[in-house]
Parts: sequence; C-alpha cells; structure tokens
Amino acid sequence: MTYAAIDFGTSNSAVSLGQQGSQRLVPLEQGRDTLPTAIFFNAEEARISYGRQAMAEYQAGYAGRLMRSLKSLLGSELINETTLVNGRPLPYRDIIGHFLNHLKQQAEAAAGTEIRQLVLGRPVHFVDDDPERDRQAEATLAEIARDVGFDQPSFQFEPIAAALDYEAQLQRETLVLVADIGGGTSDFSLVRLGPSLRSRIDRSGDVLASTGVHLAGTDFDQQLSLRAAMPQLGLGHHGKTGKPVPAQIYFELATWHKINFLYAPRELVQADTLRTFYADERYHQRLMKVLREREGHRIAGAVEDAKVAVAAGGETALDLGFLEAGLLVPVSEAQLIAATAAAQVRIAETALAAVQQAGLRPDQVQAIYFTGGSTGLRGLRQAIAASFPQAETVQGDPFASVARGLGVHAGKLFA
Ligand SMILES: Nc1ncnc2c1ncn2[C@@H]1O[C@H](COP(=O)(O)OP(=O)(O)OP(=O)(O)O)[C@@H](O)[C@H]1O
Ligand SMILES: [Mg+2]
Repeated sequence: MTYAAIDFGTSNSAVSLGQQGSQRLVPLEQGRDTLPTAIFFNAEEARISYGRQAMAEYQAGYAGRLMRSLKSLLGSELINETTLVNGRPLPYRDIIGHFLNHLKQQAEAAAGTEIRQLVLGRPVHFVDDDPERDRQAEATLAEIARDVGFDQPSFQFEPIAAALDYEAQLQRETLVLVADIGGGTSDFSLVRLGPSLRSRIDRSGDVLASTGVHLAGTDFDQQLSLRAAMPQLGLGHHGKTGKPVPAQIYFELATWHKINFLYAPRELVQADTLRTFYADERYHQRLMKVLREREGHRIAGAVEDAKVAVAAGGETALDLGFLEAGLLVPVSEAQLIAATAAAQVRIAETALAAVQQAGLRPDQVQAIYFTGGSTGLRGLRQAIAASFPQAETVQGDPFASVARGLGVHAGKLFA
C-alpha cells in the first residue's frame, strides 16, 4: 500500500510518503523536503514552474504570472472565479490543482508507482468565525485533490499532525499546547500525548481543545511592509492641500495574494490619476514604477527577508535599490515587534483561549511545542510562553513536523 500525506501550506508545502509500513519525506526541489507554495506561469517559455524555481524565474524578469499564498484563496470569494493568466482565463481552482498535481507527481516519482490515497492537512480554521465558508473551503480542497487523481482525501488538523510528530519522542504522558504559527494561520491545540496513547487511530478524545486565528507570517509581512516599505512609495504622505494620499492601494501592494490585481490596465490608469494627491511627486513616481514594472512581489519578498533577518534580534536594511539607486530602509527587531504588536497580542490570546476552552488553567500546561516558520520570531515565542508559567518550551522542526505527523496519521489509517 502506497499513500501520501500533504501539508499544503500557505507559504511552504511538504509531502510524506508511506510505503511498506514506513514514512519518509519526499524530496521536492533540489533534494529539499519543502517546496514554497509558489507557481509561475512563464509566458516566454510557455511552461509552469514551482517553488524556488518559480520565484527565481519571476525575479530573473521572465514575462509571466507569479502566484503565492494559494491556500489563502480557499477561504476567499475568489476561489470560484477565473483569472487571466498570460492572456487566458484560468480558474483559481485549477491553479491550486496544478500545484497539488505537481506534489503528486513528485511523490509518485519517489514511490515509483501511482498514488491515490491521500491525507491532507488543514488549519483549524480556513475562515475565522464562519463555519459554513470554512466547510466549503475544505470541500473545495477535497474536490481539487480528486480532480488531480486522488481518491477522496482524509483531513487531519495541522496542529494535531505536529503533535503526532512530537509524541514519537515523549517518554511519559504530557499535556501539550501545540503552537503552529505558519504563513497564513496560527493554530493552537491542547493535546494529551504519551507513549501509551500512540497506537490509537482516533485521537479526538486526546484533543482537549483547538483554536486558531487567521493571522501569521504573511500578516507580519504586510504590517512590516506598511511600516517600512510603503511609506517609501508614498503611504502616509499628504498632498499640497494637506489631504492624505489614499491608502487602499498600499494595503493591496502589501498583501501577497492581492498584488497581481494592481497590474490590471484599469488599476494602472486609476493609480495614475492619484498623482494630484502627492505634494512630492517623486513618491507617486516610485509607486507607478512598481506597478508598471510589476515589482510588487519583489518588495514583498524583500520585506519578508528583512523580517526573517531580525526575527531573532538585531537589525538589517530593506534593500529597495531596484526602485532607486541606494534606497535602503533600516529595519530592526524593535520595529518589527511594533509593527506586529496587535497581531501578536491576538495570537497569544488565541493560545490562552485553547486552555480556557478545555476548562483548564494555564499552569496545568506542561509543554509548548512550537512549529511553523513564524515561531522563528523570538518575541512571539516569548509572548506565548509568558502565559504558561509551568510549561517547558520545545522547538520542533518548523517546516516539516506537520508533514511528518500527517504521514504518521496516514500510516495508521491506510496500513
Ligand atoms: N526564521 C524565521 N523567523 C520568522 N519567520 C519566519 C522564519 N522563517 C520563515 N518564516 C516565516 O514563516 C512563514 C512560513 O511558515 P510555514 O512554512 O510554517 O507556513 P505554512 O505552513 O506555509 O503556512 P500555514 O500553516 O499557515 O498554512 C512565512 O511567513 C515566513 O516568512
Ligand atoms: Mg503550516
């Protein structure tokens, strides 16, 4: 029996392959076991590329269309719509389908055989506070998986999967808060883990509570962009009459999955008419250059790099030299914390809410297991840990624990 378990992440995806009773991660790109959830429709060479390759081709200046944060589409209104890709209408669902199919092919190449059985991870909430749309998002993802040739997939919550990975190393029963802080969502699950529980398939009884909020790494990118990058393009500036420059366009330019919309001809015309709002037209010129030359993702990427560079302390410079020679904006950890403070407070509250939901006290939590790329932010780890005075903090593999744990779950389901 051969099966796959896919962690389809907002920023990064990973696949675990089960074969002959054992699980391993599939090498997805240049021998690495994670693939950035990015797709590039290369118009010049009429082909589709994925992951780091997609971003490299886009940055090398090939004409085409780059898309990232594909998972964010699932919970949005866009998912039933079509978008123009290199002049042709393409349903958003098919774009996710291309990506899943690529993962399927990589897994099949590693397995040497066709794979139909699938476990998919899912966030605790695709959509906050809207169970119907949340259900829709899961159903849509299942449909897309079937369209690319899998059987009906089974879903497992991402933080539960991360917990299964951690459980493999535990010596005694422990009450664990799993904190999975990724690109799109921050998910918390309070789970009972231990050697004697490991063999159970249905672990719902050991999941005491789960909470999640749609706030994570891509929101930090957005907040940092609004604070550090967008002012360089005119956000917060005033016109000759003292009226502020309209901010909407900057919010979109700072939001990964909305950047592409700004390049439509109608949007460009609209942006051009904003000129009169600027006392200093240089800022408007920078904005128009970004839109005309389609540098939005490049800015977002530079902001993300700056975020990662200061996540554990220190300072860096946001390099916007591609806009104007020598344009460097200093960024420090303190600025990052200030930009993301409100989001961090909500994330820490969501962690606490899991314990409250279970009717337990914070001091009963014995361990916090951190996974997901955004747990690289030391301030955020500290903000969460501060609520749980008795808990040991454990850092898991930020990018692969979910896929590994999904593999463990799939192994129990399909074995
Ligand atoms: N060292 C780091 N410090 C802070 N953030 C980081 C670091 N490395 C990566 N990130 C951020 O982590 C996020 C990606 O994390 P991860 O791969 O766990 O998310 P994901 O699984 O794709 O998303 P989700 O689970 O929310 O769907 C990105 O926003 C990225 O910028
Ligand atoms: Mg994840």
